[in-house]
Amino acid sequence: MRNVFVTGGAGFIGSHCVISLVKNGYKPIILDNFSNSHQSIIKKLEKITKKKIIYYNVDIRDKKKLKLIFKKHPCYAVIHCAGFKAVGESVENSVCYFENNVGSTLALLECMQKNKIYKIIFSSSATVYDDDKALPLKENGKIGNTKNPYGTSKYIIERILKDLAKSDSRWSIRIARYFNPISNHPTGLIKENPKGALNNLIPYIVKVAQKKISELKIFGKDYNTKDGTGVRDYVHIMDLADGHTAMIKKISHKKGLKIYNFGTGKGWSVLEVVKAFEKQTGISIPYKFTKRRKGDVAISICSPKKALKELNWKAKYDLDHAIIDIKKIL
Ligand SMILES: NC(=O)c1ccc[n+]([C@@H]2O[C@H](COP(=O)([O-])OP(=O)(O)OC[C@H]3O[C@@H](n4cnc5c(N)ncnc54)[C@H](O)[C@@H]3O)[C@@H](O)[C@H]2O)c1
Repeated sequence: MRNVFVTGGAGFIGSHCVISLVKNGYKPIILDNFSNSHQSIIKKLEKITKKKIIYYNVDIRDKKKLKLIFKKHPCYAVIHCAGFKAVGESVENSVCYFENNVGSTLALLECMQKNKIYKIIFSSSATVYDDDKALPLKENGKIGNTKNPYGTSKYIIERILKDLAKSDSRWSIRIARYFNPISNHPTGLIKENPKGALNNLIPYIVKVAQKKISELKIFGKDYNTKDGTGVRDYVHIMDLADGHTAMIKKISHKKGLKIYNFGTGKGWSVLEVVKAFEKQTGISIPYKFTKRRKGDVAISICSPKKALKELNWKAKYDLDHAIIDIKKIL
């Protein structure tokens, strides 16, 4: 059975990747410092997968510890999800964001290289795309005119990986540009559960539905969209997790660097998401409009055609299905 290291494997995306890997016959090993996740997730993952999950409480900037882990477990490939992801926080503390996101990636690559492991999947983001009108966004579209240090950190890492692939032909590098991952495993046992600030729409709506927050703040109602609110491409987290396994399955077929969008290709406005949530759950979500949030774009929708063509990956679930699964965590 092939070991796949999942950095940030206790977090939202990494933990769902762990489930998909087990389902597909791989052995995931989690490397996480639990800075934005909870150790209790391991038991939940074991319950879902019915397998013992090996994990290390390690900061992947800690090269000494990393070295010991790589010595102990032969590793087939790495899925690199670890990193900070709050856009607002990144504006307030950019040095810390670059230090963690870029620093941890460099430490990881160095360790992989020393151990002759050359297969990596990197969690990138739709935020690397330039804010132009060429929608849906395609993998060869313009990138780099990022709007905040978080996005810049993703862009810098992509550049580092591109140069690495060019300079050393042993590497197989896959860059996964996520659009808006939502929902949770259908058991409802694990979910997006950040320790820090709420950034994403769905966890925010969930808190309002649970009456932990009185109303949803909608940032901006004057965008050039169907109803004035921002439009995003929401992808079910289980679909996204399966996308990683699809990449792992094919990663040895072609060396070099490949980039894939992971989204549905469809856009939903904030108000449409709120309405769909209310319809599926019967819970009313009070909201108020506030001014636009710095760094947000009006519309972000991807073309997922490349992933279909090359990985045979396609999102199976739509927004309604995602909300049906979210109901399990309410
Ligand atoms: N969730 C999204 O909407 C989204 C969208 C696009 C890209 N991404 C990227 O995907 C990745 C995973 O996102 P997520 O939503 O699961 O975030 P998350 O915060 O839930 O998970 C990240 C995990 O990485 C861990 N971590 C952070 N720094 C670490 C370090 N130095 N060493 C070890 N562990 C560390 C955290 O404890 C956490 O468990 C991130 O890189 C994020 O930038 C997320």
